[in-house]
Amino acid sequence: MTAQVDQFRARFGSDPTLRIEAPGRVNLIGEHIDYLDGWVMPAAIESRITLLAAPGSAAGGIEIWSAEQGDSQHELSASDFTPRTNPEETWLNYPIGVLGAYAEHGVTLAACRVAIFSTVPAGGGLSSSAALETAMALLIEALSGETCSTRGRALRCQKAEHDWVGVPCGIMDQLSVGAGIKDHVLHIDCLTLDVEAIPFPADIQMVIAHSGVNHALADGEYGKRRRDCEAALEELGAASWREVTLELVQQCRDQLGERLFRRARHAVTERQRVADFATALRSGHPEELPALMRAGHDSLREDYEVTCPELDFLVDAGFEFTPSGHFGSRMTGAGFGGATIHLVHDSAASTYIEHLRSRYREVFDRDLNCFVTSASEGAHCTTFTSLKPTLEKRFLNNRPTSSIRTGNSCTA
Ligand code: GLA
Repeated sequence: MTAQVDQFRARFGSDPTLRIEAPGRVNLIGEHIDYLDGWVMPAAIESRITLLAAPGSAAGGIEIWSAEQGDSQHELSASDFTPRTNPEETWLNYPIGVLGAYAEHGVTLAACRVAIFSTVPAGGGLSSSAALETAMALLIEALSGETCSTRGRALRCQKAEHDWVGVPCGIMDQLSVGAGIKDHVLHIDCLTLDVEAIPFPADIQMVIAHSGVNHALADGEYGKRRRDCEAALEELGAASWREVTLELVQQCRDQLGERLFRRARHAVTERQRVADFATALRSGHPEELPALMRAGHDSLREDYEVTCPELDFLVDAGFEFTPSGHFGSRMTGAGFGGATIHLVHDSAASTYIEHLRSRYREVFDRDLNCFVTSASEGAHCTTFTSLKPTLEKRFLNNRPTSSIRTGNSCTA
């Protein structure tokens, strides 16, 4: 943190007054069904985006710099939200989109200086995008005095991603980044946006393995899956995926054709796996998790076709682990590259990571970025205590000065 503050000072010549932290997320099960009115089960993780900020000069704009994007500093407008097209600047479409989405509600950001740091691997399927969006949203709220629920904020961030970045994502990432609770997984109903926090067993570790294959959501495959599902729903004659049963999908197999049939089968079987996973966790039966994770991954590989050889290999290597203490492996996030999630008893975690690394090296001849994480709290904003009270009052619009929590409940 001190190093980040030093970098902020070196760049902007002043101290930061706000620190915002927004975690990435890992999804344990419920993949590609957030946009199908399904349930998902993610957790916020320890890797995070940290945003340091300070008010700028009255005449200045929004000065922004990211430690992850080279040395260039950029200036954003508080009124012109035209997306950037220069490849070196397209990452700015996340903050620009959030500015635009808040402006639609009459909320604008005053002149400020912003530095962004990240420990969430970009393109790793761990929601670095939603973390950046949420951090930006909290900055706008802190400096404008706007109050927004976790759910309302997630919807604005999702809009930013749809309209400015061009990825038709569901709501899972933005909601889990905002609503995360330490040591809990979130059981999210993506139709009502209700969130139930389920305690995660203290003796099971979450291990994330980043394949090193960067996924690019905007390249169109994600959108194609959504369009397939829209077409399937129409063929099934249903208004919502919630009404669709496995029996109906099977009855309509010929009418759907093979590809849409498989997409639909993933949607309904994955929904059931989330329900079974939640029951297993609530009732303290982790021995039921491996079969659910195996079936979930197989469905993503065969029916939804969003895995890749590296992800399939990592999952198979996980299930090869013979000492006891493995509670399942699967890909996490959108797929097409990115990461896998593995649940392992804490006594076996370091041997397990070694096992995955050496198997990956043997077959792909490269290092595997593999680490343990735990379920963490959601995005939040803190003021620096050295701030003078008058300054706090001015920039936080009379909100509590010590710490502004996003709130973990999701009341709109
Ligand atoms: C991406 C999207 C989410 C979700 C997952 C797949 O992370 O942003 O909304 O659809 O893929 O489960």
